[in-house]
Amino acid sequence: MTADINPSKTADAPIHDLLSKRYSPYLFEAKAVESEKLATCLDAARWAASSFNEQPWRFIVATRDDSAAFATLLDCLVEANQSWAKNAGVLILTVAKLTFTRNNTPNRVAEHDIGMASANLVVQATALGLHAHQMAGIDMSKCRHTYGIPEGYDPVTAIALGYAADPAGRDDDMAKRDQGARQRKPFDEWVFAGKWEQSAGI
Ligand SMILES: Cc1cc2nc3c(=O)[nH]c(=O)nc-3n(C[C@H](O)[C@H](O)[C@H](O)COP(=O)(O)O)c2cc1C
Repeated sequence: MTADINPSKTADAPIHDLLSKRYSPYLFEAKAVESEKLATCLDAARWAASSFNEQPWRFIVATRDDSAAFATLLDCLVEANQSWAKNAGVLILTVAKLTFTRNNTPNRVAEHDIGMASANLVVQATALGLHAHQMAGIDMSKCRHTYGIPEGYDPVTAIALGYAADPAGRDDDMAKRDQGARQRKPFDEWVFAGKWEQSAGI
């Protein structure tokens, strides 16, 4: 089986396959990602929209074939994330530049734009048969210290990128998570019209 479809996907509307196939795996095959595929994913991130085209994202990348660099980035994750992210092909630390270069004023949407770039990367990864699992669970001060991230920049997330492993036939915790039912809020809880919390009736 190609592990690119989470059997528990639950999309109701006919959303694009690239979106419905995407999930955040806990099980990765411990193998490298081809450098061309990694470059394509990063290029997808590069072409994201951003406020004033600031492109406030900075990515620190470590591939598993560079075991020292990979271990260094893995060590910047909280332990719970290290336990599964260690099998990813690539680890990426995302960092936001907090001010606009054009006038040095605060960029209120810098982290939003990190999300835009990350989403592009994730969709491109899915198109290439890869999966990504984003993480808020990083040690921000360790990231800052390890990589010499200066003031004016904040570590935001880490992304584990690689080949999802098939959870079928396994009953460990990680496999259970990957096979568990995926939940989303109904429209009524978050799509409003007219006033706050008034359902748009979609
Ligand atoms: C910004 C962000 C931070 C996340 N942080 C973590 C994390 O630290 N650890 C983890 O296991 N999953 C993390 N996730 C994964 C979410 O738990 C997951 O996306 C969510 O449960 C929905 O599941 P799905 O991505 O498979 O649809 C994060 C996802 C995002 C987008």
